Order: sequence, then structure tokens, then C-alpha cells
Amino acid sequence: MRNFVYENPTKIIFGKDKEKEVAKHTAEHGSKVLLHYGGGSIKKYGTYDTVVKSLEAAGIDYVELGGVKPNPRLDLVKKGMELVESENVDFILAVGGGSVIDSAKTIAAGHYYDGDVWDFFANNVKIEQALPVGVVLTIPAAGSESSTSAVITKMDGEHKLSINSKHIRPQFAIMNPELTFTLPDYQTAAGAVDIMSHILERYFTKTANVELTDRLCEAALKTMITNTPLVLEDNEDYAARAEIMWTGSIAHNNLLDTGRVGDWASHGIEHELSALYDVAHGAGLAVIFPAWMEYVYQHDLERFAQYAVRVWGVDPNFKDLKWTAEQGIQKTREFFKSIGMPLSLEELGVPGDRLEEMAAKVVAGKERGSIVKIDKEDVLNIYQSVLK
Ligand code: NZQ
Ligand code: ZN
Repeated sequence: MRNFVYENPTKIIFGKDKEKEVAKHTAEHGSKVLLHYGGGSIKKYGTYDTVVKSLEAAGIDYVELGGVKPNPRLDLVKKGMELVESENVDFILAVGGGSVIDSAKTIAAGHYYDGDVWDFFANNVKIEQALPVGVVLTIPAAGSESSTSAVITKMDGEHKLSINSKHIRPQFAIMNPELTFTLPDYQTAAGAVDIMSHILERYFTKTANVELTDRLCEAALKTMITNTPLVLEDNEDYAARAEIMWTGSIAHNNLLDTGRVGDWASHGIEHELSALYDVAHGAGLAVIFPAWMEYVYQHDLERFAQYAVRVWGVDPNFKDLKWTAEQGIQKTREFFKSIGMPLSLEELGVPGDRLEEMAAKVVAGKERGSIVKIDKEDVLNIYQSVLK
């Protein structure tokens, strides 16, 4: 186990009706709010009304900016920054999923920076300060509600890049599983794959002696494997929705990578798909993660066999570790398929004519992979292995 510092100050307020208390938590951090949201689901399903009612009852002044698209765009971030400036906003309330939260985080950081906010993403400019952000979560997936990162797309050049800073970690996240009852099955499933991928990115490590976090990862994965089919069967299964929602945060709040180094190649490879073709991040991962596993598993048969046995219940056949490891990859694919996720670029609607360019962008200026370092050729091979 490596040395580590673990800190996660985001206050989690979990359970039924908790969004009704949003004003109370907001008032601890600010008095003029930017209410930030997406394409309208919160208005359709009543969350907007509840939040506004709570703010108004507490006399908290707010301005609003909706319209965040999945794979959130830089243009709207800049609009948000202008609004924050002109309206003297001192707190940003994100009501939605990863896209809304990431847009809010970027507005919050951009507020204190004199240059172009894209410098944080493209030029490694360090974030020194950010406005406080709060969250009412409506989809368990990205884990952004208690993470230190944000991912933004700049359409000009089709770049999807991320930032990481403790300053953008939300102050609080309100998580009511009931708000996720209205999710379309595709979003539920894509969210589940993203959550599982956040665990798997951490699970596949070369760091030795990390038994506790191995076993926590395995428990989190098994929780997803049990509960995802239940919520697809019954959208209003509160108990299963609650398990998934909490796992989504645990998967990405850095607890599961304490003392170990994760891989993260698959996320880099996927981000090019959502940058160019605007696919749902989790659906892209359903294609890429098993393809990456298949490409690298022979570098660490023991770990991949452990995954197969402990997570998927594959019979340990330690005379043939390779066989055991392969069963785990196969089971992963079968599970993603069973919850309605694509397994090939073709199924995802991604054509094969720009793969070279995408592979080059994945490795541009960055080292990718930890369990195995991968270069442009490797990324291209991974894309080509799942063309159809
Ligand atoms: O826009 P609205 O109308 O709200 O609809 C959204 C959107 O279309 C809909 N939705 C959300 N809650 C709903 C609902 N529909 C019905 N009922 C509800 N309760 O779901 C769609 C997807 O929303 P989005 O916020 O895009 O989903 P997600 O949470 O998966 O976020 C994806 C973004 O997060 C980034 C991804 O790259 C992607 O851009 N990530 C952010 C991370 C982070 N900041 O730590 C880490 C992740 O690895 C990920 O990269
Ligand atoms: Zn992700």
C-alpha cells in the first residue's frame, strides 16, 4: 500500500425528500445563487419546483441558467460566468447529473481567473480558488457530486478535456433516490456502466498489498451487478435505486483508490468517442472497457483471474489462470449487453473513419495507462477490436 492523504469534505445528505431542505444547506455557503440545470427533466418531473420553492421560502435570491447538454459545452460555461459576474452570484447550485455539475464546477473556478477558462483544461493552469458549489443529484453515474474533477467539451476542435482540483469539490450533495425513478432505462444503464468503470479503473492496479480496497471494490461492483437489473425491471424500486446512488458516489470519491494507483486508460479512450460523436459516456465505456481488458489482461493474469472469481463467481481454475481471467471479461460483456448497452462502435453509432485521429488525441501530451502503458498504436488496436 502506498502513502496517501484521504480527504472528502462533501457533505452527503441522503434520502427521501431531502431536496426540500436545499435552502438550509445553501444558506450555509451563499446568499445569491446561480441555479444551474440541464435540458428540462427537472422541470418535467417537479424537482425544479421543489428547489425553487425551498429557496423562495427561505428568502434566498437566485438567477437561473438551464440548457446544459450531456457532454457539457464550454460556451454555456462562459455564459454562466457572465451571469455570475453581472448578478453578483456567490454560490452555484447544480440540479442534475454529471454534465450540470461539471458545468457548475467550471463556472465556479472560472470566476476567479482572469484568463480564458479553457486554460485550466488545455494549458494546465492550476485552479487557485472557486465559488462554492452545491448539488441536487438526479442521476447516479459520473460521481461528480463528490469528486474533484469536471469534464467539458469545446466544440471548436471537438476537444473533451478534464480538470482536477480540490477547490471544485461540491460543498454538499443532496441525494434522493426517488428523483432517479424517472430515468430512461438507457440512462440508468449507462450510469451503471460509468459507476462500474470508476471502480474498475481503480481495481486494475499494479500496486501490491491493497487487500482492503480490493475487497471494497469487489463489494461495490457486486452491489451494481445485483441492483442494476432490479431497477431496470422496476424503475421505482427505492431500495435498489438507493444502493446504486450511494455506490455511484463511493465509486468516485477516492476512497476506493486510497493507497493504490488506478489505470484510467479506458476513460481517456472513451472521452474521444463522446467528444466527436456525442455518445453517452457510460455507453461508450460499455464498448471500450471490455475491449481494453481483452487487450491488456495477459499482463496481469492473476489480477484478472481474481476479478473473475471474486466478482463474477467464476470457478477458480488456477491451473489455467488465462481461462479464468477470460471468463471475467466475458461475464463483464454479457452483463453490459444484458442491461441494454452497446458492445461495438457500430452499435454505438460511431463510424470507423476517424480512429487514427482519435487515437492520436488520446495520447497527445499524456501518458495513458498504469497497469500497462499504452501508446497511439495500442489505442488504435483497441478501437479496431470493437469496430463491429
Ligand atoms: O438534461 P436533462 O433534461 O436534465 O436530461 C438528462 C440528460 O439528458 C437526463 N436526466 C438526468 N436526470 C434525470 C434525467 N432524465 C430523467 N430523470 C432524471 N432524474 O439524463 C441525461 C444525462 O445526463 P448527464 O448529466 O449528462 O449524465 P451523467 O451524470 O452520466 O454525466 C455525464 C457527464 O459526466 C462526465 C462525462 O464525461 C459526461 O460529460 N464525467 C464526469 C466525471 C466527474 N466530474 O467526476 C467523471 C466521469 O468519469 C465522467 O467523465
Ligand atoms: Zn466515468
